[in-house]
Amino acid sequence: MSDATEINEPTERLEATQSFLQRAGKMLIGGQWVDSASGKKFKTINPATGDQLAEVAEGDKEDVNRAVAAARGAFENPAWRNMMPTDRERLIRRFIALIEDNIDELSELETLDCGKPIGASRYVDLPLTIDTLYYYAGFSTKLEGDVLPHGCSYTPEDRYFAYTQREPVGVVGMIIPWNFPLLLLSMKLGPALATGCTCVIKPAEDTPLSTLRLAELAQEAGLPDGVINVVPGYGETAGAAIANHPDVDKCAFTGSTEVGKSIVNAASGNLKRLSLELGGKAPNLVLEDADIEAAIAGATMAIYTNQGEICCAGSRLYVHRSIFDQVIEGIVDNASKTKVGPGLNPASEMGPLINQAQLDRVCNYVDGGRSEGAEILVGGGQKSGKGFFYEPTVMVNTKPDMRVVKEEIFGPVLTAMPFDSLDDVIKDANDTIYGLSAGIWTRDVSKAHQVAAQLNAGTVWVNCFHIFDVTQPFGGYKQSGWGREWGRSAVEHYTEVKSVCIKM
Ligand code: NAI
Ligand code: MG
Repeated sequence: MSDATEINEPTERLEATQSFLQRAGKMLIGGQWVDSASGKKFKTINPATGDQLAEVAEGDKEDVNRAVAAARGAFENPAWRNMMPTDRERLIRRFIALIEDNIDELSELETLDCGKPIGASRYVDLPLTIDTLYYYAGFSTKLEGDVLPHGCSYTPEDRYFAYTQREPVGVVGMIIPWNFPLLLLSMKLGPALATGCTCVIKPAEDTPLSTLRLAELAQEAGLPDGVINVVPGYGETAGAAIANHPDVDKCAFTGSTEVGKSIVNAASGNLKRLSLELGGKAPNLVLEDADIEAAIAGATMAIYTNQGEICCAGSRLYVHRSIFDQVIEGIVDNASKTKVGPGLNPASEMGPLINQAQLDRVCNYVDGGRSEGAEILVGGGQKSGKGFFYEPTVMVNTKPDMRVVKEEIFGPVLTAMPFDSLDDVIKDANDTIYGLSAGIWTRDVSKAHQVAAQLNAGTVWVNCFHIFDVTQPFGGYKQSGWGREWGRSAVEHYTEVKSVCIKM
């Protein structure tokens, strides 16, 4: 593997990026760019170097209170509330056009702040963000209700006319993690704007930059003041204040299962609506009859995409014993050739992990696995020098009860196990508290359907992995979360259904 230090970070940055970094220190509340109430700021760093990128306003409870009040005001503002659906759609499309105009800057900010390769930001995260907003913009004009075939049995002579309509749920708190800052935001912002909700966004403390820039573009597009508020800050302060707030009607969260549970508890105060997209530990099954080359390439991509910092990573590989050695050899070869380096350098195929804590976490998991008897075929260590780089890693000789097999590592670490029978492997695949995604590699269509039906996961990929589209609902079974994002049904999470019944 190329050493991280061999691939340097280019010193050139877009002028637009440099200029934004100078003005990133304020938060957006009610259409005003303001300091935090406490006056505090925190640093956001470049994980490829550990150097500071910018100082950002550090919001806490008081700022959240101000932002929620602004969002409530905007929700009740007729200019937003009663906007003609066609005008709402037009306005959101203007916002999207500005995102497209500034796609290079937003991609660069994303890579600088969270580390991922620039090609991933520019050709995956940003296009998917834009597609997501486009898809939902169209719902502004398509929020329809039903006319109901009403019949009331205890007043049979009377006639009633009844219909349903969808109304926006209200003020939505959005708590976003650092692995796909803009994309995971767009999955919430898209349906919220289309339905006429207003929002208080708390980006992850590690990656506030692209969200702040996005909020500038929303303002430039002409979204009314207070529709989008951004309060950067830490989870235990700003995040918890949103989850606890009595005037937040819904909280949309993506992040760890542990924090997801704390949000469930906090939300019980006012029974705010919740959508939760949490952790995963996806099984990836290579059956005996698989196209082996495709499975090798797919299994490599399934674990190392986004440095393994992706909730649906194919982190538990199960390969039929007859082809196990061949498949593992292929993945190890790919891993050893992967170029790890700063995301801003187009030569890098894998960037740094997000921060020191995440790097320590990955090191601890792998060291733990090693001491429990797992064998490391490639990788297994951090890179020396600056930045939070970890080597693409493959572990074998793992046992089902090892922590590396059970827990979400959120790093470029694959555990691989051979299997003999389909029944056994399906049982192992489902033996997890998570249920976000799964993969199957087979040439047998019938088997693909049968196995897909038996895997307890919100998304099942067959002969592919990490294929994402806004039309395809995404979310988890079991402790991987509540509800689905993407797809038309997500709109339901941002609306309340009202039944109106009229005596005729
Ligand atoms: P986290 O769950 O703590 O952070 C996600 C977001 O929640 C951030 O905006 C954070 O500020 C906020 N938050 C933290 N504590 C909060 C609280 N008490 N109330 C409200 N909001 C709160 O994730 P973290 O610590 O960054 O990463 C730890 C592990 O979580 C990772 O190693 C990974 O396993 C998992 N994770 C999963 C993600 C996913 O996409 N499902 C994304 C990020 C992390
Ligand atoms: Mg950062």
